[in-house]
Amino acid sequence: MTIAADAPAATDLTWQVTRNLAGKSPQDRAKILADPGFGTFFTDHMVDICWSGKGGWHRPRVQPYGPISLDPAAAVLHYGQEIFEGLKAYRHADGSIWSFRPDANARRMQRSAHRLALPELPVEYFIDSLRQLIAVDGDWVPSAPETSLYLRPYMFAKEAFLGVRPADKVAFYVIASPAGAYFHGGVAPVSIWLSTDYARAGRGGTGAAKTGGNYASSLIAQAEASAQGCAQVMFLDSAEGTYLEELGGMNIVLVYRDGSLVTPKSDSILEGITRDSILQLARDRGHTVEERPVTIDEWREGAESGDIVEVFACGTAAVVTPIAQLKAANFTIGSADAAAGEITMSLRKELTDIQYGREEDRHGWLTRLDAGGGDGARPAGDAGRG
Ligand code: PLP
Ligand code: COI
Repeated sequence: MTIAADAPAATDLTWQVTRNLAGKSPQDRAKILADPGFGTFFTDHMVDICWSGKGGWHRPRVQPYGPISLDPAAAVLHYGQEIFEGLKAYRHADGSIWSFRPDANARRMQRSAHRLALPELPVEYFIDSLRQLIAVDGDWVPSAPETSLYLRPYMFAKEAFLGVRPADKVAFYVIASPAGAYFHGGVAPVSIWLSTDYARAGRGGTGAAKTGGNYASSLIAQAEASAQGCAQVMFLDSAEGTYLEELGGMNIVLVYRDGSLVTPKSDSILEGITRDSILQLARDRGHTVEERPVTIDEWREGAESGDIVEVFACGTAAVVTPIAQLKAANFTIGSADAAAGEITMSLRKELTDIQYGREEDRHGWLTRLDAGGGDGARPAGDAGRG
């Protein structure tokens, strides 16, 4: 696919901003921010940019949050040509608003776009769209500990055409949702369920792309996990059912007795930005870090022998969540009341301290989103500090 390279430049770079005159009152917003949950409430505005084969990216808008009007023949509704991203805006103690490695999300969205035969949105448009949304909805970024504004950029095929081919008309949107902990119990260790009947992705498929279809295929297994009293489902490779892949919505990392960290290597899992960051922080501390194939038997035997001492899940929504136990149809690893691991919790603390501006951003991972002055403020369109 050469969609991105050949796409014409955007024809209209001027943002059109329409304020929501029926937005939430400060009192209603405060009530929501006091207990946001995850993914239930949405801010007053959304971003929308159009793309067409002829016109490239054009008509960038900020408009009131509300229903999208789509032709019933829109390709996304039939063939699922859709991708999305997930990242957070964090409020620092001085009131400023920052995001964490948004350039990495922008580049991953380009890789997902390539796989789904969608046009690649330039990194600077991606980051500019976040800044545009924060410019009108900045008051929605909560300030209580562990809270944030979850940002959800997504792109879908809106051309009305039933033939099966890449759509020639596409929409990019960003919506935002104030967020507390993803799991009900906060950062408490969770139980996960091993899916053996269903796979999430296979060789040559879309597993490494952040596309709705991967999540659609995980839902029946996630429902099975919930029925088993588990918070998430864990998938194995689809060919042999031997190797660890990832959870429905997060990556997995195993911590060994010698302090090394191991995470599955596979072409069919999402390359998590949280995972990459945690592994970098671990390397900085002198831990050995390996990305390699890991079998379910290695986990089982390692946990029994005491070689594997901690396991955690990580992702934007989950941050870093200790895994207490893995339940499978005919065996269990760990126990539901296992305590959170020390290395897990200390890496979690370091990551969140950087995200919330409590610790030095030594890797240049933070990008300021609000327009306020001061250190690190950058004009719209600049992809970061580093
Ligand atoms: N794997 C899956 C399937 C996910 O949905 C996510 C969440 O985005 C991740 C891994 C972790 O990715 P990230 O750390 O970039 O959020
Ligand atoms: C994220 O962590 O951003 C995701 O997209 C995963 C989902 C479980 C919310």
